[in-house]
This record gives sequence, C-alpha cells and structure tokens, in this order.
Amino acid sequence: MCGIVGYVGKDNDGLKKLIDGLEKLEYRGYDSSGVAYFQNENIKIIKEKGKISNLYNEINFAEKTNLGIGHTRWATHGKADKENAHPHMIGKFAIVHNGIVENYTTLKKELMKKGYSFKSETDSEVICALLDYLYKKDNNILNCIEKLNEILKGSYALGILCSDEPNYLFAVKKNSPLIIGIGDDSNFIASDVPAILDKTKKYVVLEDGDYAKIKMDKLEIYNNGKIKKYDVKDFGFDSKMIDKQGYEHFMLKEIYEQPEVFRKTTNPYLETGFDSLFNKMPDFSKYRKIRIIACGSAMHAGLVGKQMLERFANVKTEVETASEFRYNKLFLEPDELVIVVSQSGETADTLEALKIAKKNGNDTLGIINEKGSTIAREAKIVLYTEAGKEVAVATTKAYSAQVAMLSLIALNIANFNNFISKKEKVEILEDAKKLPNYMEGLLQKNEVYKEVANVIKDYNDVFFIGRGIDYALAMEGSLKLKEISYTHSEAYPAGELKHGTISLIEDKTPVIAITTDKNVASKTISNIKEVKSRGAEVIYITNSDYEDDTFYDKKIIIPKINDIFTPLLTVIPLQMIAYELAKIKGCNIDKPKNLAKSVTVE
Ligand code: G6P
Repeated sequence: MCGIVGYVGKDNDGLKKLIDGLEKLEYRGYDSSGVAYFQNENIKIIKEKGKISNLYNEINFAEKTNLGIGHTRWATHGKADKENAHPHMIGKFAIVHNGIVENYTTLKKELMKKGYSFKSETDSEVICALLDYLYKKDNNILNCIEKLNEILKGSYALGILCSDEPNYLFAVKKNSPLIIGIGDDSNFIASDVPAILDKTKKYVVLEDGDYAKIKMDKLEIYNNGKIKKYDVKDFGFDSKMIDKQGYEHFMLKEIYEQPEVFRKTTNPYLETGFDSLFNKMPDFSKYRKIRIIACGSAMHAGLVGKQMLERFANVKTEVETASEFRYNKLFLEPDELVIVVSQSGETADTLEALKIAKKNGNDTLGIINEKGSTIAREAKIVLYTEAGKEVAVATTKAYSAQVAMLSLIALNIANFNNFISKKEKVEILEDAKKLPNYMEGLLQKNEVYKEVANVIKDYNDVFFIGRGIDYALAMEGSLKLKEISYTHSEAYPAGELKHGTISLIEDKTPVIAITTDKNVASKTISNIKEVKSRGAEVIYITNSDYEDDTFYDKKIIIPKINDIFTPLLTVIPLQMIAYELAKIKGCNIDKPKNLAKSVTVE
C-alpha cells in the first residue's frame, strides 16, 4: 500500500531513478505521487494528483540530483489530492510515509499548540512536524528518529531528507515493509523489490524499529540506539520477470503463466510421486483441525482449500478473513494448525492474525509467494508458491498457486491416512502432468470469453452461483469481475438464491453458473433452471455430460480431471471473462481504481 523509493549515489540522474522506481511501484497506489530531492543544498518538492505520468510531465529531467525520495500514494487519511500527496516538508525535513500513525490526532493537537500548522489532512505530515520539533531540541537526527520510534503508534516506513544533511538519506521502519538496495557507489530504499530490481540485486531487509543512515558508499543500521550488523541478501530473480513480454496487460501475461506456475509449484513435491510429497511436506499428523486465515483472493483460495481438506483428507477446516479473525473471540484449539495464505507476505491483517495465533501457542504455516517477506519470516513453517513476481493488482497466477499448494497439503494428509487407493494415486499423478496442457487448452478459448463478456457488458449486475467447491470458485470469479471491470456482481451458494436474491433476477440478468462438483451437480442444475425460468441469461461452466441443453444460453466445458485439480481449470474462464469485460469497458486492467496490490494498512 503506497510505494516508497529513495536514492543516494554518485550519478546525478536521481530524478530519473526516482521516477523509474515509482513507475514500477505504481501498482501499490496511484492516487497521487511526488518526489523530494536536493538541489544546491536545498530540498525541492514536486507532487501531482493522479497517475505517475502526471508527475512525470511536471519534472525537468535536466535538473541534476544525487539524493532524493519518492512516493506513490494510496489514500488513507485525506482525499487523493495534491495537498495530501507525499513528500511532506516542514522545517528542515521532507518525508515520504507508508502506513498509518494511529495517535496522529493527539500529536497534531500538541504540535499545533507548539505553533505548527498543517497544509494536508494526512497523518504523515504530523510525523514531519514532530521530527522538526524534536530536531530543534536535539540536533542529532538519529536521536530524533529513535525518539520517533518511542512516540509514534501504528505502522510506518519512512524515507527522510534533512536539509542540514545533503549527503544522507535516512529511513525507519515499523510494521510496514522497507528494504535497502545496495548498489555500486549508490544505495536505495524501497517499500517493495520491483522499485530497485533493475538497479541492484543486493538488498537488506529492515526489521521493526530499525533506522538507517545511508550515504552513497556507506550504510549504517541502528536499533534502540545501537548500531547493528545486517545481512545483505540477493533477490534471486531479475527485472525481466516484471516485463509484459509482449502481452497487452500484466494480468493477461500472468493468467497465461498459470500452467508453468502449476508445474513449478507442484513438481518439487511430486518428483517421485507420493513419496516425495510425504518427505517434503511438514508433518500434519498432530493437528486435529485446520484454520485458514487470509484476505481477498488468498481467502478465496482458502475456501477452495477447505473443501479439499475436508473431502479428501477428512480434516475439519475453517476459513476466516484475517480482518475479522483479529477482532473475533479467539477459539483456537491447541491441536489446531493455523495456515495463513498470502501472495505478498505483507498484508497487515494477515500478519497480525498470524501473530495472534503464535501468541496463543498454535503452530503456524504460511503459504507465501514473496520469498523472505514479513509473514514468511514470522510463520513457523513456510511453503512457498512459485508464481514468480505478480504485477497486476488483481491476482491470478498467485491465487492458483495457492490453490495448488493447498491441494498438495490435502493429498499429503489423505495419503498419510490411507484415504487414497493405489489406483487413484496413479491417476492423480498422471492428472498432475496433464493439468498444464488442459489449462493451455482453456486459455485458447478466448473467443468464447469475449462472447460472454459481450453478453454481460450491458448489465450492471451479474450473479455467480455454485455449490461446495464451485461456490468457492464463484466467489473468486465475482471478485475478479468487480475488481477489474467495475461491474457489480454477487456470488451465491446456488441453493440459497431462492431465499431472497432470486427477486433480483430479471429478463436477461447474467448468471454464471458453475457445476463441476458431481456430488451436487444435479441440485445446482435445478437451481439454474429456477433462474432460467425467470429470464436469466445463463452462462454454464461445467465438466459434466448432462445432456439437457434447455437451461443455459452458453456453455463452457472444463476438461474432466481428478476433483482435486478441477478448481485450477474452472478458475481460468472466470479470470478470462473478467479480463475481457474490463477490456471492452476500457478499464485500467492492471491498476484498477482504488485498489492496491499489497495492503499494508489494517
Ligand atoms: C489485495 C489484492 C488482492 C489480494 C489481497 C491479499 O487486496 O488486491 O489481489 O488477494 O490483497 O493479498 P495477499 O498478498 O495477502 O495475498
């Protein structure tokens, strides 16, 4: 949420470096953006409302600077306008801030009494004033940052410039991610890897409470008033991974990467069949129950996981939205495994939920995509999905990698408990090999997805219905549609529609109905007939051979495969329909309005 970049180095093309970095971070927020940089020992600020291209147009790249900070904002406190855009500057300090300062109203009042006035509605400007106030009392910046750590409540990652220190970039982090990139005669700060990936492969992760004094050729990190040692890590992937590679949108590229992502995520575990699965997975035998906690699509992946864990592995599984779990009464049992699912590994609510589970004494397992992220570091056990860098705000390949990992866990537990016959094991392993080809087959049906998108483009409401695992998929399909095409949609358990919502079905109301679960297919078909007879335009997604063709208008066929893998196929038409509709409507597919990829605020 929001993006930070900072640069100090020997080259004078600082403005270009900052804007480059911000463009790569735009998926984290794009309400406004800005830069602060040194010009002849003075700090200059340029900021603009809206996309980074607006800021770009205001910048004179002929200006030379070798020290600056930049920010792209996802508004929390105060509307998305120029005044609230970062950087903020008061006295000698310019800052960029990610996170939320919870005690900012009290601090603001106190600072106003001391004579400070504020131009913006943000919590961030208050930090700036506080820093200036502290600095007037003690002319040592590091002492002032240490004091900030004592006073500020909430979350913050800060990039700081001080006009008394034209060679130094300062940074501090608490409950909001920040890394330092180590280059040749140059150093960077960034809230997320893509900002600096084409500049350096080496980086240091700041821990909570760490603050840094950064020069072009020197880095010092402090915590609690003491200098500390740090590890320099290697990213292990390069900037090509964040290139569209000829695709019109990152989202489309990422949808098309799913067959490969499935291979990469599952191959290591299935190398020698169920033996390698057993050897490489953690021991689940001590858990009587599983609780999956996550947000957004990761939570939807958890809902698919619940169906798999309960049906295949016979383990009672509950799924909770992290932002609810945190404030609900805690009913975690001692033999309950808590699985947190997160692409970014930085989602604030998921992280806090994980901390609660740990504090309660439960074992925690993270299904995480970003290596070395905060949640990955905090969880007791980590299983990494191999989706690679996901850039589009709306997740696709990371979601299916999460589903794939949950299917492996279910298979492993089922196998351990002898719930899978020898014959079925052979079939499952064969199906795992076939799955990427089936996915590719579904990806080639774009014409069908376009036709469906054209059917639903003129309607304001779309319904997704299904039962069991199909309902879990319906929820993801509906979310994708809302996220990127701004079309209102609702996912409903098919049998529940008649208890109220069916009153909204009118002539031609689009209903996307999923029946891949043979146990309940005939029941769902009855529900589809109920909406069809009330005029709905039915798009029927199925793997069944049911011959009656009177209850739908369009049919999308999913190849038959073992039930454990079917969701990985069903989700493809859902993603593609959302994509094609967003395209027809001319939406900003990779960066939908109001959304951010990594939600690091609560
Ligand atoms: C944001 C993203 C979603 C994502 C959710 C959880 O809302 O836009 O696509 O599913 O966060 O993110 P995580 O990184 O924890 O999987």
